[in-house]
Amino acid sequence: MAFHLPAVTRTLLLLLLITGVITSTTLATLPTQQNDETLLDIPRLTTLLSPSAQLLLPTDPNFNTTLDRWSTSPLNSPRPSLLVLPTTESDISHAICYADSHNLPFLATSGGHGTNEYLSDLHGGVVIHLRNLTKFELAPAGDGGTVAILGGGLLSHQVMEGLWRQGKQTVTGMCGCVSYSGPALGGGHGTLQGRYGLVVDQIVSARMVLGDGRVVVASERENEDLFWALRGAGHNFGVVSEFTVRVHDVEENMKNWAWERFVFGRERLEQLYEVANGMMEDQPEYVNVFSSWSILEEVDPDRPMIVFIVFCNGPMEDCREYTQPIHDLGAVDHRSGVTELPGIDEVLNLDVNDPQCQPQGTVLMRGVYVDRYDIDTLRNWWEVFSDMLATEPAFANSICLLEGYSMQGVQVVPSDSTAFAHRDKRLLFSPVVGYSVVGNSTLDREAERWSKALETAAAGSAERRVYVNYALGDESLQAIYGRRDEPWRLERLRALKRKYDPNNRFRFFSPIVRDGTPEDTM
Ligand SMILES: Cc1cc2nc3c(=O)[nH]c(=O)nc-3n(C[C@H](O)[C@H](O)[C@H](O)COP(=O)(O)OP(=O)(O)OC[C@H]3O[C@@H](n4cnc5c(N)ncnc54)[C@H](O)[C@@H]3O)c2cc1C
Ligand SMILES: *[C@@H]1O[C@H](CO)[C@@H](O)[C@H](O)[C@H]1NC(C)=O
Ligand SMILES: *[C@@H]1O[C@H](CO)[C@@H](O)[C@H](O)[C@H]1NC(C)=O
Ligand SMILES: *[C@@H]1O[C@H](CO)[C@@H](O)[C@H](O)[C@H]1NC(C)=O
Repeated sequence: MAFHLPAVTRTLLLLLLITGVITSTTLATLPTQQNDETLLDIPRLTTLLSPSAQLLLPTDPNFNTTLDRWSTSPLNSPRPSLLVLPTTESDISHAICYADSHNLPFLATSGGHGTNEYLSDLHGGVVIHLRNLTKFELAPAGDGGTVAILGGGLLSHQVMEGLWRQGKQTVTGMCGCVSYSGPALGGGHGTLQGRYGLVVDQIVSARMVLGDGRVVVASERENEDLFWALRGAGHNFGVVSEFTVRVHDVEENMKNWAWERFVFGRERLEQLYEVANGMMEDQPEYVNVFSSWSILEEVDPDRPMIVFIVFCNGPMEDCREYTQPIHDLGAVDHRSGVTELPGIDEVLNLDVNDPQCQPQGTVLMRGVYVDRYDIDTLRNWWEVFSDMLATEPAFANSICLLEGYSMQGVQVVPSDSTAFAHRDKRLLFSPVVGYSVVGNSTLDREAERWSKALETAAAGSAERRVYVNYALGDESLQAIYGRRDEPWRLERLRALKRKYDPNNRFRFFSPIVRDGTPEDTM
């Protein structure tokens, strides 16, 4: 590598090498983007970090594997030149101050499942990988209940399983391999939301490291404006080192989740979703209804099928009663079973050990909220999806998700009490374009085009409302954070951005302040 180190740097690095602070590969290829001063400061950063923290350069054999993401595409992957793995909150502060003093961009990651295209704007900066922030403690809450203190790097399955072992549960994202924090910062949909609300509704307080390295607490009593913003627009404001969240006892008669899985062909689409609209009218708080459209090799290698899944917290008889109208439609395939909360992701093939949780090639995700299953919209969406599969065989791994979580717990929380803007919506429709190829720009452009076409079809004629955690990045800010009838939301977020992140350091996940277009109100 054509990279010349000045003698003094070389001597210092050699010294550190001998004392074992950094690895031998460091010397060979230090990142070219960083100037000599930055290089000199890397060893200094090392001395500031706690002994168990790790600092990796691109030449380290563990650099790429530690950075591994669910979507491995350059379209939505950060490309840092330094990786810090903090084990304490002050490690996060030091990493941020280091980046700040060298004018390097930085980004926190935890589960690595984010697919927002703004993530790829991070070039040559610092990724602060939170995976080793795994604090997990239970404590009594003021009101006689219990809270859990959760490190910002825990994965959802660690939270679900850790609590379950102690007879407790809280709302987390459904998929075990996704982080706890990622879903939480954007609202957070999960299996228990019908009973307890969104993931954000469980948060009692959060410790955050701001863009200047300062640590603050956000709660109803401290920095309550930041607390408001954190719950729905959190990616824009800081790095959460830990959350304190409400946890709930698992009642003896609510330990089990009965599930039923039906498979239908296109010919049942209209009837099925008419029935689903009816079922939604009195969907109990403990029932979640999901469907997905995708190619099921074992059924038909060419055309997509509908998989319709109902999860009910409680006995199978109750679930069966609720799903009777679906049974009456005559499914191509039907299966059912009983699991516990931490096993639900296994039923969906989204358990940490499932192939779907491993790196996926390129994935472009989107998510729009709607009120109901509008049959014309679904017909049209299906058409676009089928067209895409027929036109581009490379996209055969794509999937359309229709998420129908129960909403009672979400809708009892006042809409203006958090930055999450979409409590009035019942369904989340998500086209996901997936392909194993990485780095074919023709294919990438096609994927982006189809992704947009699928979103347009899924949203129908309603006002566009987007779930930030599924957003691709090109959506309007109003669609994500605001609402046409609530312009105050974006105004408030912009004001808070000026207060808490005036230099716009947090701008790699559907940023509220976009380069060049801070006043975007499309
Ligand atoms: C297979 C799959 C299943 C999913 N299931 C659900 C679900 O059930 N419910 C749901 O609501 N969403 C779900 N999502 C969407 C999910 O919320 C987002 O993909 C989320 O961004 C993933 O977070 P991550 O930490 O895993 O990813 P990362 O890419 O590591 O992080 C994503 C963003 O979150 C920020 N971030 C993460 N941790 C912190 C922290 N501690 N402090 C500050 N910023 C942080 C990062 O900076 C980044 O901007 C799912 C996604 C996938 C791919
Ligand atoms: C931190 O995480 C890495 C990768 O997951 C692991 O190899 C390492 O042992 C962890 N370190 C600590 C101190 O937990
Ligand atoms: C890590 O990934 C980069 C980019 O994909 C690649 O250029 C580099 O060779 C990889 N490094 C190692 C050590 O495998
Ligand atoms: C990229 O993908 C397109 C579309 O599938 C294909 O025609 C083309 O040959 C691919 N290009 C390369 C370099 O593989």
